[in-house]
Amino acid sequence: MNFDLKTLGVDGAVTEKCDLLVLLVSESFVPGSDALSDLVTQALKAKDFDAKPGKHLQMYQPQGVAARRLVLAGIGHGDARSVRQAMASIAAAFKQATVKRAVVCFASSAAGSAVAAAVQGAAQASYVYTTTKPKAEARTLARVVIGVADVNAVIDAFTHSTAVVAGVEYAREWGNRPANHATPSLLAGAAKALTKHPRIQCKVMGPPEVSRLGMGAFMAVAQGSHEPLRLIELRYNGGAKTQAPVVLVGKGITFDTGGISIKPASEMDEMKFDMCGAASVLGVFRALAELQPAINVVGLIPACENMPDGHAIKPGDVVTSMSGQTIEILNTDAEGRLVLCDALTYAARFKPSAVLDIATLTGACVIALGGVRTGMFASDDALANALMAAGEASDDLCWRMPLDEDYAEGLKTNFADMANVAGRPGGAISAAKFLQKFVEGVPWAHLDIAGTAWKGGAAKGATGRPVGLLVHYLLGMAAAPDAAAPKARQRKAPARGA
Ligand code: BES
Ligand code: MN
Ligand code: ZN
Repeated sequence: MNFDLKTLGVDGAVTEKCDLLVLLVSESFVPGSDALSDLVTQALKAKDFDAKPGKHLQMYQPQGVAARRLVLAGIGHGDARSVRQAMASIAAAFKQATVKRAVVCFASSAAGSAVAAAVQGAAQASYVYTTTKPKAEARTLARVVIGVADVNAVIDAFTHSTAVVAGVEYAREWGNRPANHATPSLLAGAAKALTKHPRIQCKVMGPPEVSRLGMGAFMAVAQGSHEPLRLIELRYNGGAKTQAPVVLVGKGITFDTGGISIKPASEMDEMKFDMCGAASVLGVFRALAELQPAINVVGLIPACENMPDGHAIKPGDVVTSMSGQTIEILNTDAEGRLVLCDALTYAARFKPSAVLDIATLTGACVIALGGVRTGMFASDDALANALMAAGEASDDLCWRMPLDEDYAEGLKTNFADMANVAGRPGGAISAAKFLQKFVEGVPWAHLDIAGTAWKGGAAKGATGRPVGLLVHYLLGMAAAPDAAAPKARQRKAPARGA
């Protein structure tokens, strides 16, 4: 799907030939002397239409208007939230098979965030997953023109949002694929496919290389599966060679049965989404490919299945991680932290300015924050603030959670340096404390997306979160690297063991 931005007033929209014209009308709408303005004025007067967000009126071949279908949609004060609400309320119009070319025109001046909301709304409304459902009606919408009064004022927000759409859709696609269509090897293929874009490189490692690296925790999770593990290393080199990269680590469990600590059958299918952290890293690289910002980013994806078989790890087994720390695996279902800890150790090789991991890590995080905000844990206040702000700005919200050392108490064991689980209370936090033991001397954040990466029920499917948040954060770094990632000398002492 293509997006275009062009200068277009209400008078110009009158002659736009398209299958669907959406006129976004705010409460401060001032009518001109054109056919569309007349229509809006009459509809408002007759109270058949209202500029409140969510209110809309549809018409077919209205007199004097070139578009075949016309939708007037209220956007209240014209803020991003209202535009999102408006676009969601008219989503059905973008799904129509006969709508190939749509024009979304702001009837009054629009802010960048409102334009971004319109772009994302049109994409969201028309997205269809078809890979394993060939008879599903695929997206027919091919081109969306966003019409605004002042193109220059919103061009950056527009470009940014169309790149985020490409990234979100890449993440949704891979998140939605069932586990037999998204094995670790296929995920590696999805990463490799990104190298067709400039400045992106990809290296894929298999069991021999991972064994040589000494990633005993990662290998332990994979050993009960017939699918060979993959360690995917993506690089986006847009900045100077001397510029320290941000490393993104995405949990890539392509299916989580729980292993020997097996999960109950109901809703276990949703554990195909346990690679949504990995998918979000792929999505971020897809967006970077579009935007080509002047930064360096490394993406690391430890990918494998968590299966029970004769070779599978057993509760009580002790493994040695790449860091040298030993881990007693008391619950084989706490596998995400096992694959992530070795990837976090590996991340230090890149001498990063910040390390962020993204993972569908705990059911406890779903209980804590539901599907609205991602759980965010950070060892560094500046990084936490930057992520929080990026979440608000991109409408991909997160919420900071604590990392007090007392939460690590439950990880103590008589048989290894640490256990992989503590008790049930505060489960999202003890999981974060576990990960923190593998990060030293670098600002680190952990995003627990267990509640936000996918939706269940009738709307079951991957959301593509938190691609929007991450891209916003990274672009903030490109604009002002010091603001988004603290310099080494501003850093606090590593929180580990503190
Ligand atoms: N992938 C799951 C977390 C999860 C569960 C996400 C349900 C979304 C919905 C993770 O690997 C897991 O199983 N975590 C356990 C940890 C526990 C054994 C300490 C959990 O949350 O139950
Ligand atoms: Mn699990
Ligand atoms: Zn899992």
